[in-house]
Amino acid sequence: MKVLVTGGAGFIGSHIVDMLIEKNYSVVIIDNLSHGKKAYLNKNAVFYEKDICDKSLVDIFEKERPDFVIHNAAQISVPNSILDPINDANINIIGSINVLEAAAKVGVKKIIYPASAAIFGEPKYLPIDEAHPLEMVSGYGVSKHTVEHYLNMYKALYNLDFVSFRYSNVYGPRQDSSGEGGVVAIFCEKLLGNESPFIYGDGLQIRDFIYVKDIALANILALESNLSGIYNVCTNEQVTVKQLLTHINCILNKQIAPIYTSERKGDIKNSYMSYDKIYKQFGFKPMTSISEGLKETLEYYKQK
Ligand SMILES: NC(=O)c1ccc[n+]([C@@H]2O[C@H](COP(=O)([O-])OP(=O)(O)OC[C@H]3O[C@@H](n4cnc5c(N)ncnc54)[C@H](O)[C@@H]3O)[C@@H](O)[C@H]2O)c1
Repeated sequence: MKVLVTGGAGFIGSHIVDMLIEKNYSVVIIDNLSHGKKAYLNKNAVFYEKDICDKSLVDIFEKERPDFVIHNAAQISVPNSILDPINDANINIIGSINVLEAAAKVGVKKIIYPASAAIFGEPKYLPIDEAHPLEMVSGYGVSKHTVEHYLNMYKALYNLDFVSFRYSNVYGPRQDSSGEGGVVAIFCEKLLGNESPFIYGDGLQIRDFIYVKDIALANILALESNLSGIYNVCTNEQVTVKQLLTHINCILNKQIAPIYTSERKGDIKNSYMSYDKIYKQFGFKPMTSISEGLKETLEYYKQK
């Protein structure tokens, strides 16, 4: 089976590619390397340096004729999507339509797409389930959800099956510590360098941190089962930002205090999500505890 992974040089995409190769899938990667790294490219995958917005994208699909597409390529910065919503929409909406057009043209069986907790806005209740109202407060939230409408449309028009995974906060090796979303990566790098990290607000904001290899497992399940439609992929575990720092300090046997600073405008106070739907229907739940995931992540940043 051949799987085409867009964004396969990025954080999440490269882990999915590695797992696919381990499982003997034939893998094609499309990435414009705007945020991904050549070093993350699996040597056993075929790589095309290409923008998903490029009209000639379809040529790669016609040449490679993948059975499945895992569409990870995206503009991932929430603040940038507010500063420049047109650029966000061009990549995340128009680029995704370009991917869908190419996929439909060559008869791809199923496309797997990562949506995000950003589509829910400030939670109305917790844990967030798939029926939670959508109140996007950023261009990124809007663009990520808009593609779910297109996925429905391509399924109705062309029988292109889809899975949209709504991930909570993903962490793990290769995450960019310069990104505003990568709190785990930032804390790991700061503490390893014996520096105090910033905490915005009181540090009691709750998050749901899921390990990237569990995300890769969910993607494999989507290829190997009749999973179809919209599913949360998350841990349903509540970890405060302060607890996260304590966990990392403990593993490193350090006691580095944070620097508290004012809350960031637009930050969601508390968010964690329920994985009941995917668990009840497919028996899937994340396998990696936060301590195990943090240990593996720290090993990576130590070596880096
Ligand atoms: N990291 C998270 O916590 C999280 C949570 C929910 C959803 N997601 C989604 O998961 C996907 C992967 O996110 P990530 O954290 O690995 O980000 P990432 O930036 O590491 O990966 C995205 C990849 O897409 C590539 N890319 C960007 N624009 C492109 C374009 N126009 N053409 C071709 N390639 C392009 C980048 O070079 C990069 O390699 C994204 O769609 C993101 O919205 C991430």
